[in-house]
Amino acid sequence: IPVDPFDLVIFGGTGDLARRKILPGLFRRFCAGQMPPQARIIGAARSELDKGGYREMIREAIAEFGGDLTGTEGRLDPFLDRLDYVAIDARGEGGWSELAEMMKGTERIEAYYFSVAPALFGDIAERLQKWGMADDRARIVVEKPFGRDLETARALNKTLATYFNEDQIYRIDHYLGKETVQNLMAVRFGNMLFEPLWNSQYVDHIQITVAETVGVGGRGEYYDKSGAMRDMVQNHLMQLLCLIAMEPPARFSPDAVRDEKLKVIRALEPVASHHIVRGQYQAEPMNEAENPGYRTAVENPRSRTESFISMRTEISNWRWAGTPFYLRTGKRMAARSSEITVVFKDTPHSIFEEDAGRHRNVLSIRLQPNEGITLGVTIKEPGPGGMRLIDVPLDMTFAEALDPEDIEQVDAYERLIMDVIRGNQTLFMRGDEVEAAWAWTDPIIEGWEARNDVPKPYDYGSNGPTDSEELMRREGRAWREVS
Ligand code: BG6
Repeated sequence: IPVDPFDLVIFGGTGDLARRKILPGLFRRFCAGQMPPQARIIGAARSELDKGGYREMIREAIAEFGGDLTGTEGRLDPFLDRLDYVAIDARGEGGWSELAEMMKGTERIEAYYFSVAPALFGDIAERLQKWGMADDRARIVVEKPFGRDLETARALNKTLATYFNEDQIYRIDHYLGKETVQNLMAVRFGNMLFEPLWNSQYVDHIQITVAETVGVGGRGEYYDKSGAMRDMVQNHLMQLLCLIAMEPPARFSPDAVRDEKLKVIRALEPVASHHIVRGQYQAEPMNEAENPGYRTAVENPRSRTESFISMRTEISNWRWAGTPFYLRTGKRMAARSSEITVVFKDTPHSIFEEDAGRHRNVLSIRLQPNEGITLGVTIKEPGPGGMRLIDVPLDMTFAEALDPEDIEQVDAYERLIMDVIRGNQTLFMRGDEVEAAWAWTDPIIEGWEARNDVPKPYDYGSNGPTDSEELMRREGRAWREVS
């Protein structure tokens, strides 16, 4: 179903995110018939390009980053026809009257995507207002990082609130646009089976792992000022934690869902320093030139920024008191694998003496790759060998369970941009959520700074420093294998 006609202005329209994700995503939506033919996309950036030059740039970007383009033959030119460009000076006056002229008098939905450094958010918002583009119809989309601590996030929220209402602001966390993340809500709240067991009485612990094989690549300058805590935990991992732990919202509506997520963040316990492990990856042995260690990659030989973090926290509320939540994320790990795992408790009594306590139900929700949900159940080992128990997965790998022809692959960014046009904020972070998340992470980061904490080195392609395994082992638990 096509969305309503829209004009989407992308500030930073020539940037990395626009070329890798936003425009290839919009092209796929165009091919799927979801982007109405009258819609316009206007790139706005510093480069002195004209419309033709911009279209060529995006043609190349789609060829490079657009993935499998079979079936899209003949669609690229009509899509590029919908593109326009304006060279703009975000901090000055250049280009603004031209943009205002382009946006004048249309009845379409207007969305402004701030795909630029947060330092420019205020400048752009101010100019949108000055040139008459910040009316009630306008929607703005802002990217992470949304601040670098509570203070800067508050300042950003305040700046945006000067020009826009909260229901016009779409703060992106692209993890919320991932298929399985939404499926997590469907599984939790669409089935009778899980919810009664979803609490500290039946759940032993929950693990969330987002493991990456990539290093910091060309983003060293940004990353070294952020680290895994700010880059991944404060947003993506905390969002996953919220969705897995929140109370059932009364309905699937933006504020109902976001109210429940906020309650989870506010109930998070502070994390003791012995419950955190930080790491920095080492170079690939024998291939240091291509895959250097973290400090070389960020060109900061004394860097104390972490590229890996694992931690244990608890949620102090009626449902979860006493249940550990273990979070882990890092770069240059053994495999690219994101998974949420709910490990249920042992049965209270085993009638099978031989196997006592060895079998636990494990629900694993796999985000990427091979999206799917698996429930480990215990059965009798088939055959004549007596009552021997084994664990087998009840599998629902989507690619196998459903006809691939019926599954339309939608990237997180595509879905979220379409939600902006539809005016649905459910999968976007509200200002108070972001602030609450910083309020939890700030003291942890301040603790490291006060102690001059130095991350532990870990091997290229490993699962982080050995201390991370120890964090689990000393509580009689183990991380799921990263594979
Ligand atoms: C981004 C982080 O938000 O998410 C990156 O800034 C990280 O450092 C990326 O690599 C991971 O996203 P995905 O979708 O590849 O899991």
